[in-house]
Amino acid sequence: MKPVTKTLHHKEEDQGMTVQFTLNGEEVEQKLPPERRVVDLIRSDCGLTGTKVSCEVGRCGACMVLVDGRPMNSCLLMAYQIDGRRIDTIEGLSEKDSQVNHIQQLFLEEGALQCGYCTPGMIVSLSGYLKKKSDPSHEDLKDALSGNLCRCTGYGGIHRVLEQIADGSWKKEGKT
Ligand code: FES
Ligand code: FES
Repeated sequence: MKPVTKTLHHKEEDQGMTVQFTLNGEEVEQKLPPERRVVDLIRSDCGLTGTKVSCEVGRCGACMVLVDGRPMNSCLLMAYQIDGRRIDTIEGLSEKDSQVNHIQQLFLEEGALQCGYCTPGMIVSLSGYLKKKSDPSHEDLKDALSGNLCRCTGYGGIHRVLEQIADGSWKKEGKT
């Protein structure tokens, strides 16, 4: 069955261009100004605030989303660049992806949430990487998270999560 297209309107719509994309499996059509960023489109127009805004210059990874399955900083993407693409945010991944749910559980168990603000971006980055490589090493996972910064405490809890993913035991337990 063809998904229903949801049409949103930005308040400056009269000057705008129309962009169509799939957001967490739902087709969206949005008229907006050409300078609209994807992070603002997702948070303000679509109301999905799990994607965070912090540095706004591509350094922290808080705004990470999947674009056609690849992690990208939504603060650096313009809305016209996602025309025809598939976007997945932490909300959609949490609803549908058991692997993502288990990564979230590991973050909880290992105390890796810390400020919690950066966690959605980290989980989106890990999810994108695991779609590409299902049996990564700890080093692979560190690389996968190299675009996600924590400035509150440290990386101890986060590294324990990576160790658990890399050792593969969560798969053997049938959690993913
Ligand atoms: S808010 Fe986009 S990378 Fe920091
Ligand atoms: S987890 Fe957000 S700054 Fe450390």
